[in-house]
Amino acid sequence: MPVLQIKNLTKDYGFGRGVFDVTFDVNEGEVFGFLGPNGAGKTTTIRHIMGFSRPQLGSTMLNGMDSWKNHHIIQRTVGYLPGEIALPESLTGTQFIRMMAQLREMPDMSYAEMLTKKFELVPSGDLKRMSLGMKRKLAIVTAFMHDPPILLLDEPTSGLDPMMQGIFIDFINEEKERGKTILLSSHIFSEVDATCDRIAIIKDGCLVSTFVANDLRHNESKTFEIEFATKEDFERFREQREYFQKISIISVKQHRNQLKVLVDDANINDLITLLADYKLLFFSEIKFTLQDYFMKFYDHNTTASAAMEVGTADVVS
Ligand SMILES: Nc1ncnc2c1ncn2[C@@H]1O[C@H](COP(=O)(O)OP(=O)(O)O)[C@@H](O)[C@H]1O
Ligand SMILES: [Mg+2]
Repeated sequence: MPVLQIKNLTKDYGFGRGVFDVTFDVNEGEVFGFLGPNGAGKTTTIRHIMGFSRPQLGSTMLNGMDSWKNHHIIQRTVGYLPGEIALPESLTGTQFIRMMAQLREMPDMSYAEMLTKKFELVPSGDLKRMSLGMKRKLAIVTAFMHDPPILLLDEPTSGLDPMMQGIFIDFINEEKERGKTILLSSHIFSEVDATCDRIAIIKDGCLVSTFVANDLRHNESKTFEIEFATKEDFERFREQREYFQKISIISVKQHRNQLKVLVDDANINDLITLLADYKLLFFSEIKFTLQDYFMKFYDHNTTASAAMEVGTADVVS
């Protein structure tokens, strides 16, 4: 049985907002990426899984339990990192950690201490005066310090600096190695690419694609960009009609003597053999990325592409 089962989940907030007929499963030990720009419906879905909100239609189940009916058990079983954190301002970080440990009746703080070191959390200060980044680290440590088997991470790296984002990605991969089941929502392609086994793309509250991440990585055809040293070679290559069964020219930049070709993996040797007869300035593979795939669903939608991030260095939260 899958650990998480989201079946026909619908919550209509009006004006086309909300989530509509969302269905997916997350299996034990899997890292599942939930990818979409701001407003796509990621937080709404995750809050239903946590049992904070009641579905209008459909259901969310965790270990076979309905989230809404069992929200007390679920909120104790899951390590939940919300997208927006609210911490009690009157405490210090250390007091907050101690309070959460008591609530969870945790006898052993060694895992909490390991997390504190890993994320370079300095918990001693007042929460009122803590920087946003330090508050995020505190939220991370308290969300996971009881070593829960299931992690629900809602845009977990927003508010972290690039180095901490890297440490967080390593942490996800280590937790996966330890057998945890993880649902990660994100608008950052690189972190989804670096961690997820399967990915769902959500658009305007609806899932538009669910796929195995490796299927994208192991695409069976390749695109290469080639620049010829001379106009003569460029034109001569374009006349090689006997090869056109195996090598398709998909775009041409006439003024630069450049073109792009698409080749099945089985025919790459033919391309190399053919090119040996030409003088090139460069030859490089253009990787088909998660972003390319994503944009197929979001094409002509500039707000969505502007809201998505490619790298980890330039995150907007
Ligand atoms: N409680 C609510 N009441 C009304 N509209 C809401 C509520 N929660 C979310 N929405 C709307 O539902 C859509 C999806 O929001 P959300 O799930 O937060 O998206 P994401 O987490 O992907 O950014 C947005 O248009 C948002 O404004
Ligand atoms: Mg959100």
